[in-house]
Amino acid sequence: MYLADTAFVGLISLKHLFLTQTGLTSIAFVPMYNLDNLETLDIGSNSISSMQLPDSFPVKNLKEFDFQLNGIENILAKDVSILKQSTNLSLSLKGNSIKYIEPRTFNSNNFYSLNFAGCANSVDLSVILAGLMGVNTHILRLGRFEDIQGIPEITSSMLQGLCNISVAELSFENMHFFDFSASTFQCMTGLQKLDLTRSHIKLFPPGIGNMSLLRELVLSQNVFENLCDINSASFPFLTHLHINGNFETLQMGSGCLEKLSELQYLDLSCSRIETSNCCSTELKGLNNLKHLNLSNNYQLSLQDLAFPEGSKLELLDFSFTRLQAPTSPFNKLKFLRVLNLSHTSIDTNNQHLLQGLPSLTTLVFRENSFLSGTIQNDNLFQFVPNLEVLILSSCELKVIGHQAFHTLKKLKHVDLSNNKLTALSSNAFTNLNKIYLNFAFNRIQIIPEEMVNKISDNSTINLSHNPLDCTCSNIEFILWYKQNIGKIEDPEKTMCGTPRPIEGTKLSTVTLSCGVSTAVILIIVLTLLLLITVSTVVIKYFLKRRYHLI
Ligand SMILES: *[C@@H]1O[C@H](CO)[C@@H](O)[C@H](O)[C@H]1NC(C)=O
Ligand SMILES: *[C@@H]1O[C@H](CO)[C@@H](O)[C@H](O)[C@H]1NC(C)=O
Ligand SMILES: *[C@@H]1O[C@H](CO)[C@@H](O)[C@H](O)[C@H]1NC(C)=O
Ligand SMILES: *[C@@H]1O[C@H](CO)[C@@H](O)[C@H](O)[C@H]1NC(C)=O
Ligand SMILES: *[C@@H]1O[C@H](CO)[C@@H](O)[C@H](O)[C@H]1NC(C)=O
Repeated sequence: MYLADTAFVGLISLKHLFLTQTGLTSIAFVPMYNLDNLETLDIGSNSISSMQLPDSFPVKNLKEFDFQLNGIENILAKDVSILKQSTNLSLSLKGNSIKYIEPRTFNSNNFYSLNFAGCANSVDLSVILAGLMGVNTHILRLGRFEDIQGIPEITSSMLQGLCNISVAELSFENMHFFDFSASTFQCMTGLQKLDLTRSHIKLFPPGIGNMSLLRELVLSQNVFENLCDINSASFPFLTHLHINGNFETLQMGSGCLEKLSELQYLDLSCSRIETSNCCSTELKGLNNLKHLNLSNNYQLSLQDLAFPEGSKLELLDFSFTRLQAPTSPFNKLKFLRVLNLSHTSIDTNNQHLLQGLPSLTTLVFRENSFLSGTIQNDNLFQFVPNLEVLILSSCELKVIGHQAFHTLKKLKHVDLSNNKLTALSSNAFTNLNKIYLNFAFNRIQIIPEEMVNKISDNSTINLSHNPLDCTCSNIEFILWYKQNIGKIEDPEKTMCGTPRPIEGTKLSTVTLSCGVSTAVILIIVLTLLLLITVSTVVIKYFLKRRYHLI
């Protein structure tokens, strides 16, 4: 691509300029005049081999400068000295195979984020860190790419340079540490967040002193065998801990996270967990836990008081984990707002399952089955009167009791899509004002008018993908539908299923004339004729008799 020097002269308000994959070989070919308002400059995925920035480089308002996947090998301090005028810049050099960077190149620069992931392929990481000596950045990314082989393992001495870098959030994705030990963390005492995703970690060394500022730790996709192997006592002030996608079966141990009394967010999803008698010993000491994700694990059996009294849990996600539960496993979770029990094979006959959840507003119950595909009037949902969102899609439902949700007076959003329902059972809800009802992908054919005429103007209903009947038997509904099209979500996909000739026609375009049929007229006429004949005969007979008598 060729750009004339004056190419952008007229674009005085230009804020975002993307020149990715344009075959640029030098930044000198990008016209820089009049780009003072530029906030984003993306020249990633080109063949630029020098980082030499011109004096006219529009640094004043620049927030994002993306230089990733070019051919930069050497960076000299004078090349990028103009960046010292910027504050809070995000600079990405990701995927440039750097061979040399002048020590202290970025000394006293203030960045928001710096991305040097995949840069230390042919030199060791200490060369990069020397170049970054004296820099101040909120985020620093130093990971590497998974598919590049033969990169030396990281040693603790290579990380010494971190001592002279001021950084709050450090990310090391995809690393191999050679001597993973307390000394690896020597220069990380100021960190607030550390991301060690996919770093082949089996054991977090004990005795890391003084990570007292650390609030968030990401240990996802590693190879821990036991939760205790993370030696959580080293970071007692953690508020967020992520251990998802662990590659080994993760034992939850007992009291492994006990010291994390400030922890609010714990993600243990997709970590092959299988545990019985969950969870009070496993979660011992986590008195401030609000968000717990145990989804996509193997199997959990909950004990009687699975979560201790006084628990502050607000969100629990167990979806796609086989769950065995006593009668009321969630009892006393006073603050729980969101519960996801999708695809847990939980016993839906247990009417007391949801007892003790006064604050529950969202219940996701997708892909669970009910006895004979029926939600009875007496059911497990009646114990959560404050529920606003109820997701019951893909539950093989055939029938819903006509008062099934009568205790749920606050329902606003109900998803019953992808079931086998043959009736639009709107009478199951007390309040059809401001409600969203999704009955898509069911087997509904005929809808009596009384099922829809109470649906208020600020409600929405999705009836798409039902085999709706478009004969005179359904005329009342079809007329209602046309007058209330504003309440319908997805009218494009709300179509006739019968009769055959108009299958697939949009319901909104169907016109039917359903007067009294000819057969009925014929019968009426015949009856009238018969009546007249009979009465004539009778009258004649009486008249004859009278004359006869006279
Ligand atoms: C710095 O930049 C980041 C991301 O662009 C932004 O979220 C943050 O608010 C900025 N901080 C300041 C102080 O402008
Ligand atoms: C790096 O930091 C250490 C400890 O903070 C200090 O002793 C050393 O002088 C610094 N090195 C440079 C080159 O600034
Ligand atoms: C729980 O983790 C799964 C898988 O990592 C994710 O899809 C889901 O969104 C998480 N749940 C919440 C409530 O964040
Ligand atoms: C469970 O439901 C919550 C609330 O809707 C949602 O945020 C979360 O992503 C769901 N979990 C999974 C694994 O989809
Ligand atoms: C109607 O509901 C179905 C099933 O949930 C969904 O796939 C579709 O996107 C919905 N329509 C609109 C317009 O949201």
